[in-house]
Amino acid sequence: MGKNEYKPYLMRIAEITEETPDVNTFRLEFTNEEEAGGFSFNAGQFGEYSVFGEGESTFCIASSPTRKGYIECTFRRAGRVTKALAAREVGDTIGFRGPYGNVFPIGDWKGKSLLFVSGGIALPPLRCVIWNALDLREDFKDITIVYGARSVQDLVYKKELEEWRAKPDITLITTVDPGGETPEWKGEIGFVPTVLEKAAPASADTIALLCGPPIMIKLTLPVLSALGFSPGNIFTTLENRMKCGIGKCGRCNVGKYFVCKDGPVFTFAQVDELPAEY
Ligand SMILES: Cc1cc2nc3c(=O)[nH]c(=O)nc-3n(C[C@H](O)[C@H](O)[C@H](O)COP(=O)(O)OP(=O)(O)OC[C@H]3O[C@@H](n4cnc5c(N)ncnc54)[C@H](O)[C@@H]3O)c2cc1C
Ligand code: FES
Repeated sequence: MGKNEYKPYLMRIAEITEETPDVNTFRLEFTNEEEAGGFSFNAGQFGEYSVFGEGESTFCIASSPTRKGYIECTFRRAGRVTKALAAREVGDTIGFRGPYGNVFPIGDWKGKSLLFVSGGIALPPLRCVIWNALDLREDFKDITIVYGARSVQDLVYKKELEEWRAKPDITLITTVDPGGETPEWKGEIGFVPTVLEKAAPASADTIALLCGPPIMIKLTLPVLSALGFSPGNIFTTLENRMKCGIGKCGRCNVGKYFVCKDGPVFTFAQVDELPAEY
């Protein structure tokens, strides 16, 4: 009999970080050492995470492929499965199928600068690339991160933001929406596109990675364009609803693409070709 593609790996929750009141990060370790040894993935890929008896949810792999022995996912409590996941504790076992999807072509970006622009809970897929690039720091020129959230409370990876801020070879700009600041807040106050426009990072020899809510993407693209970025040099990951994750059910279809197989990583030159309602 062939391999059952729907059979998940059994993963032990090794660590839980509460990022915000409704966002958690799980560090997951394989319960089977042989499976752990045979597992690899690349930045940009995703998986199906399951709570037995509840169902599966799609999240990116938020840790870097350069960090071996575990994977991490960061998820917001949105509905049935994510609520059940959030109720799990360290030591519990959950399921994981993957890795699925295409990848950010990091190998092609050697010698270039990287600009990451992200909002809210959309930082996890870029966090994977950020750590990947930082672990290969000599391969890249400037690394700039512009990250915003509605309020200080909504910023994810607060500890890592401090770590990145302390590094002399990264420019990190954090911002919160007007009214979302605290008296101690030292970052910017304003929406991501405005803050990006003010920072005006150079576009020459630079790849931009953009991930965020649709309104942020819509308002950020013209800013990137004005800065000189072409749609082919701006990458994103799409979050179409998925079921199988392996190109069988058709749930994630948009235009000529199955996001689970052809994506989730796309350039905006490809996104421009998608049906108008997308
Ligand atoms: C490739 C990919 C990567 C993703 N990565 C992450 C991640 O790293 N972290 C994270 O928190 N979420 C991520 N998502 C979104 C996540 O899959 C959904 O929020 C999650 O499946 C909801 O599961 P649920 O059963 O708890 O909610 P449901 O009961 O299914 O739905 C609850 C709410 O979430 C909305 N929703 C469901 N699926 C999606 C979706 N695919 N996109 C947007 N909204 C949705 C519904 O419309 C509803 O309002 C990703 C989705 C895809 C396709
Ligand atoms: S999720 Fe089933 S075909 Fe893409």
